[in-house]
Amino acid sequence: MRVLLLGSGGREHALAWKIAASPLFTALYIAPGNPGTALFGENVECDILDPAAVTELTRRLQIDLLVVGGEAPLAAGVADAVRYDYPACAVFGPGKVGAELEWSKAYAKDFMQKYGLPTAEYRCFATAAEARAYLITAPLPVVVKADGLAQGKGVVIAKTRAEALVAPDHMPVEGQVIVEEYLVGREASVFVLTDGQRCHVLPATEDHKQLYDGDTGPNTGGMGAYSPVAYWSTKLQAESETIALRTLAGLKAEGVDYRGVIFLGLMVTASGIKLLEFNARFGDPECQVLMVKLASDILPYLHGAARGELPPDPLEWSQAHVALVVACGGGYPEAPSRGLPITGIAEAEAAGSLVFHAGTAVSDGRLVTNGGRILNVVDSGETLALALDKAYNGLKFISFPGMHYRRDIGRRKDG
Ligand SMILES: Nc1ncnc2c1ncn2[C@@H]1O[C@H](COP(=O)(O)OP(=O)(O)O)[C@@H](O)[C@H]1O
Ligand SMILES: [Mg+2]
Repeated sequence: MRVLLLGSGGREHALAWKIAASPLFTALYIAPGNPGTALFGENVECDILDPAAVTELTRRLQIDLLVVGGEAPLAAGVADAVRYDYPACAVFGPGKVGAELEWSKAYAKDFMQKYGLPTAEYRCFATAAEARAYLITAPLPVVVKADGLAQGKGVVIAKTRAEALVAPDHMPVEGQVIVEEYLVGREASVFVLTDGQRCHVLPATEDHKQLYDGDTGPNTGGMGAYSPVAYWSTKLQAESETIALRTLAGLKAEGVDYRGVIFLGLMVTASGIKLLEFNARFGDPECQVLMVKLASDILPYLHGAARGELPPDPLEWSQAHVALVVACGGGYPEAPSRGLPITGIAEAEAAGSLVFHAGTAVSDGRLVTNGGRILNVVDSGETLALALDKAYNGLKFISFPGMHYRRDIGRRKDG
């Protein structure tokens, strides 16, 4: 099988690593990829937001399976273009309409309400002024969200009236403003693989979004993740499966043939699970944790989902605890780090850690920083504590100017 993977982060490095371990693959290309993905396939240049360019590339490389890593190409209609113009290639990832679950939070909330999915109370406003008028009396704290893709910067949790009233005017993308009831609980990420008809619900993962220890500081794309989640129960897994099946039924009722991953962003509240949001792709860094935990060959599932023939057997998972810690640049999440030398990966790997590249480049033959989140260090162990000890040990070998990582991944007090 000839595979093309779109993206350049830690998620794509982990997917490339897992795909390359499959006996089914014959060629792997990654566009644009990173120095980590280059270890498992050939990186190729392509504007992955240009549907025609991606279609041309899949045809030229005679790709059998296209795997779309991130949300931006999905929202740009890349999956639709390849399906339509080069049908010989199976596409893992929804079309633009399916991906609307992620690129429009207003659409997603209306979808949740229409199909009976538990979620926070909300109202959508066409303009910032209308949202502001409502926020004068809305109960606090209150959550204000932008409608479009905002790379994690589109949500404000306002604790005071003053914060609430300015939030609608500072949304990073234009358009509707969603105002939501503030939920209290513990967050978990659940990914669902689907071919549009059937689905498999993957094990829950938990991540740490904030930059500093103790869940403080600005929100980021994610500073660490782990699985299994200590408090997760068969009851919570069953509730997630109900949500997944209802979501799939809703998509079918809307006439959407959704093939790929649906991410359920969940808040476990005192009154059960509430759905915070959908994403239309694997999360980063949760994907890396799941790829390490996955015992089954991934390719039959990716290819099966893409072809509408998801294998009926559930995926198999190692019993190990898997933990991931992100090493980011000093300016993250505001400013990317560029061109600073990275050392110690080989030593960390010799100590047993897996190191995925998230924001790196090669310059004059040396590995350098190239992004916000630079590296992911991943380890497994019989317990979460053991997995974390190993990951933190691996991090000790790694160094680049400005490097920052959280010291408390997986160590939330309430387990
Ligand atoms: N209704 C809510 N109540 C409490 N916290 C929320 C609520 N909605 C979102 N959040 C918090 O804000 C974060 C980001 O919101 P989310 O809807 O996941 O948007 P995105 O991931 O696109 O930034 C969530 O991970 C959660 O921590
Ligand atoms: Mg989110």
